[in-house]
Amino acid sequence: MKTFTSAIELQKVLRHDRTNKKSVGYVATMGYLHEGHASLIENARRENDIVVLSIFVNPLQFGPNEDFASYPRDLDRDENLAVNAGVDYLFYPTVDEMYGENPSVKVVVQNRTDCLCGRKRPGHFDGVATVVTKFFNIILPDRAYFGMKDAQQVAIIDGLIQDLNFPIELVTVDIVREEDGLARSSRNVFLLEDERHEAKELYQSLLRAKDAIISGERNPQKVIALVEEHIKARTKGKIDYVEIYQYPELKLLDVLNGNIIIAVAVKFRHARLIDNIIVTL
Ligand code: PAF
Repeated sequence: MKTFTSAIELQKVLRHDRTNKKSVGYVATMGYLHEGHASLIENARRENDIVVLSIFVNPLQFGPNEDFASYPRDLDRDENLAVNAGVDYLFYPTVDEMYGENPSVKVVVQNRTDCLCGRKRPGHFDGVATVVTKFFNIILPDRAYFGMKDAQQVAIIDGLIQDLNFPIELVTVDIVREEDGLARSSRNVFLLEDERHEAKELYQSLLRAKDAIISGERNPQKVIALVEEHIKARTKGKIDYVEIYQYPELKLLDVLNGNIIIAVAVKFRHARLIDNIIVTL
């Protein structure tokens, strides 16, 4: 595995690979890699000649009171995981390399953002879309791999690829869970011991919602109430949202039908966790 901190150096090597007709798969991350990232890399490894992984904690997608400074970072550990998972090129730029002194352009997302994390974290998806656009232009991958844990991010990148005409195939990869069902996340390290135990209830609440829908419940408000009641009764976390939409359009439904996402965000003392489940009727 080769590590790059310079976009120009990485572009040089990739240009050479593309001339040699090598296909390129890309996995974007903010580091502190876990099994969820490993699964993205493994998918990219199977389907491409070259796998590029970026690690960059992107300041643009964090709000002023969010966890940019404390976001977990551990490059040595990440490098090991990346090598073992089969990464060819690790791109690890500085903030200066990505944004310079005074950037003149940013990407603004105007669809699929007025709900879920988009509503709770103003500007977050503009930051994600801006950095992903830059990475796409630097790397020019054939395929880009994103995890369904960030389902709204997937929906927005789907829109970004279509609207800005990136010739890139978006490949979505299922959520990887701990044995008790907790979705893998870099932020899980911030859970206190009792919170870690309670955190499995997020997925349990989503499974209950899925069961109710499969048994015939079609009223979104009733399903939301069920999830809220489950989380409130079993955790000390504070519910940030429980919402249901058509997916990937993220449109509200009066009566549940088609492809549905049930998504939750819960704040624990030092970690805000998100999870979701897709049900197809
Ligand atoms: O999902 C993430 O880790 C980030 O939002 C991404 C896609 C790497 C952009 O910074």
